[in-house]
Amino acid sequence: MPVTQIVYASRPFGYDELALRNILVIARRNNSRSGITGALICREDLFLQLLEGRRDVVQTTLDRIRHDDRHTDLRVLLDEDSSDRLFPDWAMRHDPARSWMWTAAQVADGAVHSATPAETRAVFTRLSREPAMAQDPAPGCPLEPGA
Ligand SMILES: Cc1cc2nc3c(=O)[nH]c(=O)nc-3n(C[C@H](O)[C@H](O)[C@H](O)COP(=O)(O)O)c2cc1C
Repeated sequence: MPVTQIVYASRPFGYDELALRNILVIARRNNSRSGITGALICREDLFLQLLEGRRDVVQTTLDRIRHDDRHTDLRVLLDEDSSDRLFPDWAMRHDPARSWMWTAAQVADGAVHSATPAETRAVFTRLSREPAMAQDPAPGCPLEPGA
């Protein structure tokens, strides 16, 4: 089944472990109900999130996320239809930014917010081939869509 994939970048506002945990708990609860999968890359200076699922559902979810005051400067970097999901088993995988992504200096320079759709897709394609981090900030949440 074709799916819509949307990726946005934003800047966390008041980022800490508890805030991140709360975001993941709600995201996984809602997404497992609505058939959304994806991954959320986080660090103090960056959120980069892939949402994949039915176009209308992804759009409604993004509209809610856009109005969330736990982040700011949200910019959509990729909006495409695809034949396959990159994270079919994850209602929202959590990934701390990895060393092969952008440096803090590049993030401060706006490198992520100006990434092309191809560069953005490459980050998530690579991530989907790497194992998830063993330490999950919100363990025990439903991970699988429909779980
Ligand atoms: C970085 C970030 C990522 C989020 N990801 C999701 C998500 O994938 N799905 C979702 O439903 N809500 C997500 N949220 C939370 C929404 O902004 C919103 O708080 C939530 O959907 C409200 O759900 P409720 O009406 O069930 O409480 C995210 C928020 C932030 C700040």
